[in-house]
Amino acid sequence: MYQIHCLNPISKVGLNHLSENYSLTDNAAEADGILVRSAVMHDMELSDRLLAVARAGAGYNNIPLDKCAQKGIVVFNTPGANANGVKEMIIAAMLLASRDIVGGIEWVKENHQNPEIAKATEKAKKAFAGTEIMGKTLGVIGLGAIGAMVANVAEQLGMKVMGYDPFLSVDAAWKLSHSVKHVTDVNEIYSSCDFITIHVPAMDSTKGMIGKDAIALMKPNAVILNFARDVLCDEQAVVDALAEGRIRRYVSDFPTPVTSGKPGCIVIPHLGASTEESEDNCAVMAVKEIEDYLENGSIVNSVNYPRCEVGPCRTASRVAVLHRNVAGMLTAITTCAADAGINIAEVVNKSRDEVAYTLIDLDQKATAQMVDSLNAISGVFRVRVIK
Ligand code: MLT
Repeated sequence: MYQIHCLNPISKVGLNHLSENYSLTDNAAEADGILVRSAVMHDMELSDRLLAVARAGAGYNNIPLDKCAQKGIVVFNTPGANANGVKEMIIAAMLLASRDIVGGIEWVKENHQNPEIAKATEKAKKAFAGTEIMGKTLGVIGLGAIGAMVANVAEQLGMKVMGYDPFLSVDAAWKLSHSVKHVTDVNEIYSSCDFITIHVPAMDSTKGMIGKDAIALMKPNAVILNFARDVLCDEQAVVDALAEGRIRRYVSDFPTPVTSGKPGCIVIPHLGASTEESEDNCAVMAVKEIEDYLENGSIVNSVNYPRCEVGPCRTASRVAVLHRNVAGMLTAITTCAADAGINIAEVVNKSRDEVAYTLIDLDQKATAQMVDSLNAISGVFRVRVIK
C-alpha cells in the first residue's frame, strides 16, 4: 500500500483516481508520494521514504528540483492540464487591456444611486473607450501547451500572431496553426507586437528577461501579458515605462508590491488556472503520473529526471536505479546482476543533465545482496525494487 500526502488541497476528482493500492496520510514523513500545488517545499525536510512529488500545475519553482534529484525523488508537473483555463484568461486579459471595462464598471458602481444614470452613461462612457484586438499583432514567447493554445485562438479572433521558442518540440509544432509566424529573434517580437505574452518557466536564465532592454524596443501601445511568473519581468522597469507612457499596459496574474495598484497595471490574483476544470485536470494528471511511476517505474512529465516510458513489468522482477549521469554506471549496475547470477531481460537507461535513470527487468527476483551492491555503487541516489 502506497501512502500519499497532499501539501495543498487537491481536487477530489483527482484523488478519486487513486486505486485501492493507495491511502492518504496527513504525515508527510510517511508518504511515498506528495501532491502539491503552491506550497513552497524549498525548506522542507524530505524523508528518505519519499519517492515522488507531483505538482498539480505547470510551474514548479516552489520545488527544490536538484535537492529532490539527488535524493532520488522524481518531480512531475502537469503540462497542458490547465492550459485551456490560462488561455481563456489571457484572452480576457487582452480585452481588459484594450478597453477600460474595469474602469467602466467602477463608474457604474460609484453612480448607482443617480436616478439619471442612463443619461449620465452616454456622457461618461467616452472615458472608458478603447480599441479592438482584431487586426493587432500578438507575440507569443514560449510555444508550449499554453503558448500554442493562445496563439491559435488569437488567430481565430483575427489577430496576426508571431511565435518565438528556441526549444520548440515537434509535438508543440504540430499543435500550432501554420499561419503563426515563427521568429528566431525574440527582439522581433518586442519591436513589432501590440501584445506580448510570455510562457516560459521561471529559471535563472529567464528571470527578468522582459527588462529595460526589451521594453526599450517596444511600441508605445505595447501590452505585456504575464501569466507565467512575476520574476520573468523586471517589474520596476515595467512600472517606470508605464509611468513615462512608453508602453500601454501590463497585465499580470501575480500581485506584487511593485505592480499592485500602479497606473497602467492590471493585476489579477493568480486566477489563470483557477477553474474547476483546470484543477480537476491537473489533479487527475498528477495522480496518474505518480501511480505510473510508483507501480511501473515509468517517468512521464518529470522536471528533474529523464522521460522513461515503460509498461508494466513482464518478467520476474524490475529494479529502478536513480543515479548520477557519469561514465561506468551502466556497467557497474549490470555487473551487480551478473554477480548475483541473475539474467537481465531488458535494460533501459536514460539521462538528463546531471542525473540518469536505469530500469532493469530481471528473469529472477532481485536478491537483497544484489540490491545492497547496487546501493554501494558511488553515484547511486536510490535503488527501488518495483517488483
Ligand atoms: C501553473 O503553474 O500551473 C499556474 O500558475 C497555476 C498554478 O500555480 O497552480
